[in-house]
Amino acid sequence: MKIKSSTKEYQVNIYDHFDKIHEENIDSKTFVVVDHVLYDLYKERLFAGIVPEQLYLLDATEENKTIETALEICEIMTGIPAKRNAKLVSFGGGIVQDVTGFVANILYRGIHWTFYPTTLLAACDSCIGGKTSLNYKKFKNLLGTFYPPDEVNICTPFFQTLSERDFQSGLGEVVKFNVMFGEIGITNMEQNIDTLLQRNETKLMEFVNSSLLFKKNFIEEDEFDRGVRIHLNFAHTFGHAFETVSGYAIPHGTAVAMGTIVANRISLGRGWLSEEKVLRVEGILWKIIHVDMDEAISDMDRILSAIRKDKKQVGNSLTAVLMKDDMELQIVHDVEREEIEKAVGYVLGKLCD
Ligand SMILES: NC(=O)c1ccc[n+]([C@@H]2O[C@H](COP(=O)([O-])OP(=O)(O)OC[C@H]3O[C@@H](n4cnc5c(N)ncnc54)[C@H](O)[C@@H]3O)[C@@H](O)[C@H]2O)c1
Ligand SMILES: [Zn+2]
Repeated sequence: MKIKSSTKEYQVNIYDHFDKIHEENIDSKTFVVVDHVLYDLYKERLFAGIVPEQLYLLDATEENKTIETALEICEIMTGIPAKRNAKLVSFGGGIVQDVTGFVANILYRGIHWTFYPTTLLAACDSCIGGKTSLNYKKFKNLLGTFYPPDEVNICTPFFQTLSERDFQSGLGEVVKFNVMFGEIGITNMEQNIDTLLQRNETKLMEFVNSSLLFKKNFIEEDEFDRGVRIHLNFAHTFGHAFETVSGYAIPHGTAVAMGTIVANRISLGRGWLSEEKVLRVEGILWKIIHVDMDEAISDMDRILSAIRKDKKQVGNSLTAVLMKDDMELQIVHDVEREEIEKAVGYVLGKLCD
């Protein structure tokens, strides 16, 4: 598939093998950044030919998703015999994407960047849309730019080595897209969630592709997130709060899955969604939500205050994207504290069961 952006049109390829990586032209002008865990897993098979001077191994932690890491890579890249014609190739999940996208954007005012998303979350969602984000001090994703890759190559066999936690987190975004798609998406999810959980390659390719196609419509219409792209924030207003209060112990996609339940419970309370539909969606979601409960996660006041602090919130009233029964997405600005408390309480109660 091709994605249009104002600066470039880029190609997203999905493969059920690694051949593309073997064909990648790592010449002297190319620098490679690889997620450290991924490198250890695939070194012999995929990365053995890359010389140390052209390689940076990134420990994918939120603490390392910083401007310091980005600048360190920029500095090391001055050692290769290329300037604006330098090429960056990176392999990893959202953390590697955020750091290397930023590097590709600022180094020599923008260089060629090929990205291989190796987590399901990065493959089905973040690899398109062009956002780069870095953490600064205690602020998550405070710094950022828009800079799409020149090419995205998804190799689905990578998903086989993901931890259960990271795999299910990726499924959280897949389910979210399908719920947003409406009745057809929900039925499709009901029929395929068990096969997906078994990491069936054919199904993974199909659902990564359909998730990206769905997202493509929004980002092409609203590249810089000023309009319709806000719909993609469905479930995120609440999801981010679960991520934050857990100190990022709950991964992004899992938090989004929890946020989907909160959003739909609020819709249920408003009479906008039938209980039947809400329960159907939850039947899918509870299969992929596995969270270790601790006090920090179950502190209602901290969750409510984190929702208020979400960076998409402007002004006093709480804005969220909610669903209606005909599956129309609705942007609302009047979500009450009581509604959220009830919906969040429901999720926490279920997690404690
Ligand atoms: N820029 C965007 O649009 C955007 C969107 C959503 C999320 N994000 C960011 O993405 C980050 C989360 O990314 P993520 O969930 O993709 O994961 P991640 O980059 O945090 O990686 C998760 C874990 O998986 C490991 N890993 C990666 N690929 C693997 C593989 N194939 N096999 C085994 N292990 C592998 C990593 O080493 C890491 O331990 C967050 O920082 C979030 O803010 C960015
Ligand atoms: Zn997300």
